[in-house]
Amino acid sequence: MTGARATWLSLGEGRTPLVRAPRLSEALGLDVHLKCEHLNPTGSFKDRGMAVAVERAIARGAQTVVCASTGNTAASAATYAARAGVRAVVLTPEGATAGAKRAQAHAAGAQVLEVRGTFDDALRLCRELGERDGFMLVNSLNPDRIDGQRSVVGEIVEQLGGVPDVIALPYGGGGNVSAVAAGCDEAGIAPALVIGEAAERPTTFASAIRIAAPAHHERVARLIGEDRLIVVSLSEEELREAWSTLARVEGVFCEPASAAGLGALGKLDRTGTAVCIVTGHGLKDTGAVDTSTATVVDASLDAVLEALA
Ligand code: F0G
Repeated sequence: MTGARATWLSLGEGRTPLVRAPRLSEALGLDVHLKCEHLNPTGSFKDRGMAVAVERAIARGAQTVVCASTGNTAASAATYAARAGVRAVVLTPEGATAGAKRAQAHAAGAQVLEVRGTFDDALRLCRELGERDGFMLVNSLNPDRIDGQRSVVGEIVEQLGGVPDVIALPYGGGGNVSAVAAGCDEAGIAPALVIGEAAERPTTFASAIRIAAPAHHERVARLIGEDRLIVVSLSEEELREAWSTLARVEGVFCEPASAAGLGALGKLDRTGTAVCIVTGHGLKDTGAVDTSTATVVDASLDAVLEALA
């Protein structure tokens, strides 16, 4: 087994389904599997690492956990802080996060501060806050996050019954790929890592990865240097295409950023077995979905048939 697991604070993180994607496999000429991390307790992959980080923060005497977030980290930190009975302070870029994610943080009783600035500004402030007495930073710069997050690797190998040739995932700040690389090291395996980033980082419609300066870029650069990692840049169109394909072709409704691994895989010429990590639930960002084709009809069969014609 790789990685650490939360004990008393757990809401059942991890042990998410790994499902085969037959139609995508055929289209890509690869045996594609989807690791459904969007099915974690708060609807994103963050929960594995957050449960461990909050549990350990308390063991170290923290009274407040603090994070900067494009939404999912905030929802996860707020949730585990609530369960642990400590305060969560989350800083998000004003007007740039999905409403459902903010709602999760508010529902759990977090103090949500919307910063007039970017995610990168919020992270800078949180790093400073995290230095204060009683405060603990629970962004992925906290190694406990990585310890918990890397448990995904052992599960993939176990569920697949072997080591995949490729693991593909999104690239925002790079915490997740750092954790996956650490999990691979721990398990003594070396699949190719493929990460998809938004070409238009500071403005992408995939708000979860709207991050101009990835905090883990040095780790990413090292992995590239070791020939273990490929970064693929995706246009807004390519991100949108991968995202809608997952829902329409495989029935996996995720949020836009979550499909970046699949988008990256689609631009490479790989063979063998690939696992795409699906990172966040589609219900977190319903505003991204085009519902303009909805039709209102009279309550008669004639009207329904006419609308279907
Ligand atoms: N996918 C989703 C759904 C995310 O929420 C994030 C990051 C990523 C991918 C990228 O992962 O940063 O480890 O490379 N979300 C952070 C947040 C920034 O605040 O929720 P990464």
